[in-house]
Amino acid sequence: MCVLFFFFFLTRGLMPRTLDSQITLEKTPSYFVTREAPHRISSMSHDTKLIVVVRNPVTRAISDYTQTLSKKPDIPTFEELAFRNRSLGLVDTSWNAIRIGMYILHLENWLQYFRLSQMHFVSGERLITDPAGEMGRVQDFLGLKRIITDKHFYFNRTKGFPCLKKPESSSQPRCLGKSKGRTHVQIEQEVIEQLQEFYRPFNIKFYETVGQDFRWDSM
Ligand SMILES: *[C@@H]1O[C@H](CO)[C@@H](O)[C@H](O)[C@H]1NC(C)=O
Ligand SMILES: *[C@@H]1O[C@H](CO)[C@@H](O)[C@H](O)[C@H]1NC(C)=O
Repeated sequence: MCVLFFFFFLTRGLMPRTLDSQITLEKTPSYFVTREAPHRISSMSHDTKLIVVVRNPVTRAISDYTQTLSKKPDIPTFEELAFRNRSLGLVDTSWNAIRIGMYILHLENWLQYFRLSQMHFVSGERLITDPAGEMGRVQDFLGLKRIITDKHFYFNRTKGFPCLKKPESSSQPRCLGKSKGRTHVQIEQEVIEQLQEFYRPFNIKFYETVGQDFRWDSM
């Protein structure tokens, strides 16, 4: 969960210049899950707005692992890292790939210093299926006119992701997702179900707190 690619292109010419200075770019989720971060940020500025992209924590964990695996091919299997004891269904919550997806725990930490109204949660899934709609809500949250709309996106079928129509300045189109080049690790369906089960109570508490159902439990 992070501000990720999202802000990456927001700051590249589509947003009014003045906005740049107000946006902090955090491309990795690590900052959101750092215990000291909320206190540190709140002591700098009380009216910070936080935008957090969240997606199904199981998909997130697998994608996280896939990314690590591409850099360190020698790491243990996903299953070995995810469980302390798989037959008992004991998930290893000390593994970062698992822990980051326990969104409610991180949110509770932030809520000690920030109001919920200062936060906006973007559904990573809807960002792919309805990028203009998600972007519209972000712009509303930031109190901006809806500058980014449907006409700024096209769907690249090869990639399987929506992409921004090419800004004049940039030669590479920016897409909301990596191309399919990266091989995904095959994870047993049973492991996925065990993890869905593990995350369910955390997800439900998260939906209740945020007031938004991200539908990860009905997929
Ligand atoms: C997992 O738990 C079962 C049942 O308690 C036990 O028999 C087994 O040895 C445990 N496996 C590991 C790897 O700790
Ligand atoms: C769509 O993505 C593919 C694969 O990355 C790329 O080769 C192609 O140029 C893209 N098409 C458009 C219209 O952006």
